[in-house]
Amino acid sequence: MTLALIELKQVGFTYPGVVPVVALTPTTLRIGRGERVAIVGPSGSGKSTLLQLLGLLSNPTEGSYWLAGYDTGLLSEAQRCDLRGSQIGFVFQSFHLIDHRDVAANVELPLRYSPTSRSGSERMSLVSDALERVGLLHRANHRCDELSGGERQRVAIARAMVGRPSIILADEPTGNLDSTSSSQIIDYLLTSGPDGSTLVVITHDPEVASRFPRTLMIRDGHVTDVASSPTTTRIGPSDDGA
Ligand SMILES: Nc1ncnc2c1ncn2[C@@H]1O[C@H](COP(=O)(O)OP(=O)(O)OP(=O)(O)O)[C@@H](O)[C@H]1O
Ligand SMILES: [Mg+2]
Repeated sequence: MTLALIELKQVGFTYPGVVPVVALTPTTLRIGRGERVAIVGPSGSGKSTLLQLLGLLSNPTEGSYWLAGYDTGLLSEAQRCDLRGSQIGFVFQSFHLIDHRDVAANVELPLRYSPTSRSGSERMSLVSDALERVGLLHRANHRCDELSGGERQRVAIARAMVGRPSIILADEPTGNLDSTSSSQIIDYLLTSGPDGSTLVVITHDPEVASRFPRTLMIRDGHVTDVASSPTTTRIGPSDDGA
């Protein structure tokens, strides 16, 4: 059995509170290196909750999450932070760029917080490479608030991939864009990531989801594989020893 890059073993998540909200019911799920996965489902079904768990932005309230061979529940907060910084790049619907800084400074940001220390020239070389991959090297010195929505999202993609993470996670990356820009953003996500990287994208757009070989559907916190290419792993309790 090859080790899955992402492995959830009966992972569930409940938001605490006066009335606790079960956002993810116990889920067993494997995602391999290089897989491209879309997550679909109605509003409030648990998509962002699942992505935040995958990205180590929150901890499961039950079950165990293995990432790159680590049982993440056994790691200290500092170790989880290092794992997140070295393995994961994020893209969000509203870009989350620092508008008054230039494009290159925004893309460089994760390298400044990375557990891997790099010289200024190494960082600049990675920034140039990432910007070239999304076709924006010529805008490196422009402020982000001088760019169109589609261009801003391309900067966010360059920022997500600049440290060559093994996983890129995107939460509704085309939610603020028209259909032409959306299609272009999905092209960049699918083609310009680091070699062999895994891509997980939340979308409410069936056309976007149809471009991915594997789709996970979430309803009321229940996850099912609704479409997979024959080579991808499937979810379910019987998958453990597959
Ligand atoms: N901080 C929170 N505290 C309590 N409940 C929350 C919190 N965040 C989300 N929820 C609830 O958890 C459930 C799943 O939310 P989640 O944000 O994962 O849904 P989603 O599928 O991403 O929705 P959308 O498509 O609208 O972004 C919802 O019922 C939501 O109201
Ligand atoms: Mg959401």
